[in-house]
Amino acid sequence: MDPKTHPYITTGLYESKFGIDQDSAVEAFKIASKLPNLKILGIDMHIGSQITEVSAFREAVILMNELIEKLRMEGIEINHFDVGGGLGVQYNDEQVPDVFEYANAIKDELKKSKCKIIFEPGRYLTADAGALVTKTLYVKNHRDKNFLIVDAAVNDLMRPAFYNAYHHILPVKQTDREKIVYDIVGPACETGDFFAKGREFYKTERNELIAIMSAGAYGFCMSSNYNSRRRVPEILVDVDKFYLIRQRETFEDLIKGEKIIDEIFT
Ligand SMILES: Cc1ncc(COP(=O)(O)O)c(C=O)c1O
Repeated sequence: MDPKTHPYITTGLYESKFGIDQDSAVEAFKIASKLPNLKILGIDMHIGSQITEVSAFREAVILMNELIEKLRMEGIEINHFDVGGGLGVQYNDEQVPDVFEYANAIKDELKKSKCKIIFEPGRYLTADAGALVTKTLYVKNHRDKNFLIVDAAVNDLMRPAFYNAYHHILPVKQTDREKIVYDIVGPACETGDFFAKGREFYKTERNELIAIMSAGAYGFCMSSNYNSRRRVPEILVDVDKFYLIRQRETFEDLIKGEKIIDEIFT
């Protein structure tokens, strides 16, 4: 089924690598039910991520209920129904449902399943809880382009490079300076190392802090050491207090686990 989200985060289509399609599922459950070391407890779905139309969830739950019914007719007991995650959040100006709309769209169908219901929301819980704060390194003007080069890079937040994703970007200190159009980019050796392209942003100098918003989901956990960059520290802010909850990586962290094979170099 098509949840109408970015193709890279669509999981419920026949062409995607995930799951077992509806037609083969009953057969797969029948095989599983005969295996002595397996106990069937329930059924799980996950149709994709960043889904903004609750009708997609409803359609999927209806299909799953049909499947649960078929399995029960085969004598296979299904006790839990895990509806996965996927509820979208607002990155730009997209219309997103809230949890009440989500619940209203699926609750009657979920009741029919007579299962214990499990949810796996990810992004909905954490995306807006995190911002990537970065310092401007350099402003480069090139013909009619203005590049705002910051010290975060694609390895720290890869959503723009990966999905051409939009993130709001704000100055850390409020300002009423005039705005110009920038490409806001990192210092890594990739043209895909960008956070925003053609974005109107306040005129900014070197060494100013800017915040890339909604970075709490698929941000740090997708980060890497590409370009031998140490991953960023994580800071928990609790109203007017803050705590370091993950320290910045060190050079030693970068080479941890690497080995020099002496016999090759002697
Ligand atoms: C099986 C499963 N459940 C839940 C999630 C969380 O998805 P989201 O962050 O879109 O809610 C994912 C994400 O890929 C997933 O694969």
